[in-house]
Amino acid sequence: MADLTTEFLGIKSPNPFWLASAPPTDKEYNVRRAFEAGWGGVVWKTLGAEGPPVVNVNGPRYGAIYGADRRLLGLNNIELITDRDLQTNLDEITRVKADYPDRAIIVSIMVPCEEEAWKAILPKVAATGADGIELNFGCPHGMAERGMGSAVGQVPEYIQMVTEWCKKYYDKPVIVKLTPNITDVRKPAQAAKDGGADAVSLINTINSITSVDLDIMAPQPTIDGKGTHGGYCGPAVKPIAMSMVSEIARDPGTHGLPISGIGGVTTWRDAAEFMALGCGNVQVCTAVMTYGFKIVEELISGLSQWMDEKGYTSTSDFVGMAVPNVTDWQYLNLNYVAKAKINQDDCIKCGRCYAACEDTSHQAIAMSDDRTFSVIDEECVACNLCVDVCPIENCITMEAMTPGEIDPRTGKVVEKDYGNWTTHPNNPANFAAE
Ligand SMILES: Cc1cc2nc3c(=O)[nH]c(=O)nc-3n(C[C@H](O)[C@H](O)[C@H](O)COP(=O)(O)O)c2cc1C
Ligand code: SF4
Ligand code: SF4
Repeated sequence: MADLTTEFLGIKSPNPFWLASAPPTDKEYNVRRAFEAGWGGVVWKTLGAEGPPVVNVNGPRYGAIYGADRRLLGLNNIELITDRDLQTNLDEITRVKADYPDRAIIVSIMVPCEEEAWKAILPKVAATGADGIELNFGCPHGMAERGMGSAVGQVPEYIQMVTEWCKKYYDKPVIVKLTPNITDVRKPAQAAKDGGADAVSLINTINSITSVDLDIMAPQPTIDGKGTHGGYCGPAVKPIAMSMVSEIARDPGTHGLPISGIGGVTTWRDAAEFMALGCGNVQVCTAVMTYGFKIVEELISGLSQWMDEKGYTSTSDFVGMAVPNVTDWQYLNLNYVAKAKINQDDCIKCGRCYAACEDTSHQAIAMSDDRTFSVIDEECVACNLCVDVCPIENCITMEAMTPGEIDPRTGKVVEKDYGNWTTHPNNPANFAAE
């Protein structure tokens, strides 16, 4: 079985699966059980400054988006950072780290954007023996209104400044957790790097309103008739998180900066995808809140089986392997031509592909009187919509045409050479064509 031992920023853990800073890592009781279940590391629920802890709402704090089978696709929350006393958390972290020296414990921190506040808390965190810290610059609700969380994460200068303070007063790895509630994630990532961050982690939650109660006309979750935007997470945010991760991984300014991937990781495949895009490890929250700590067993067995199949002996063998294949649209090969193909043996004749292609795509699927569905190559632009709406996996496949063949749609020979928009004759900016 492949060895899943991972070294991230020099911090060893038996596998790349860490729990993200959230309710699953809120207290000693949870974290001990998580480690017994097999989790490689945890980022402890965010600590605040010494003094009276924050106060959470006493009504519902979650909203949800479901798939047709009521499978949880997206979770939204209005929870704050830990509402437990700082010293209680520090004592618990110290005890758990002492008992689990082989597991990673990272302490998430969010204190006011003042040097004294960071200078005060960092030695206390260092004394716990934890392996590093994560700066929570991401929480989009409650704390942001107090000038913390995403209010800091949205200003690259603040990120750099606070990261510099942390590097000054703390000598173990500093991970900067980024908010997705910005327009260009490369800017805050660059600021973290410029401030001396050892790594970035992303994403924190996305500003969201998941639903509106139409009887009382208020957003959900509703507290005494009112609602507010909360942080969105779970499987629905994975595509957004992976795009942001890939931007950081391939930007020349931040390429090579270690990344801890977060956002919708539910299966070993999700984890492998984040890692292929450059993440040294992944963090999980919603999947554990939905299915419990035990899912780590499937994450471990699934990832190691896949690695065995592929011949990878260590996670570092495939971390970042997909990064060179992420490009800008203008560099995609316009000479590549494919066609949809329906496997009649698998088809259940539901007609979804027909409806989608006929009404909203290219009228490239024919339906016979006996409901046999077939692709009209003369019309098919290979958009993939039929594949995406077909309920049977791999019933419709996209088949690449061989160079030299004639594309029946355009009547043109499929070229073997790569050609993109920058050199295309239709591109008004293609000076080579003049
Ligand atoms: C209820 C809840 C509370 C959270 N609290 C924190 C927190 O205190 N600090 C933090 O950095 N992130 C917090 N998060 C964000 C998660 O750590 C994680 O970034 C986010 O949920 C995306 O991962 P997921 O899709 O696996 O849930 C919280 C998330 C949830 C659902
Ligand atoms: S790939 Fe697009 S155009 Fe071709 S058959 Fe499917 S939906 Fe129609
Ligand atoms: S969507 Fe798939 S299963 Fe349904 S008719 Fe089309 S090919 Fe067949």
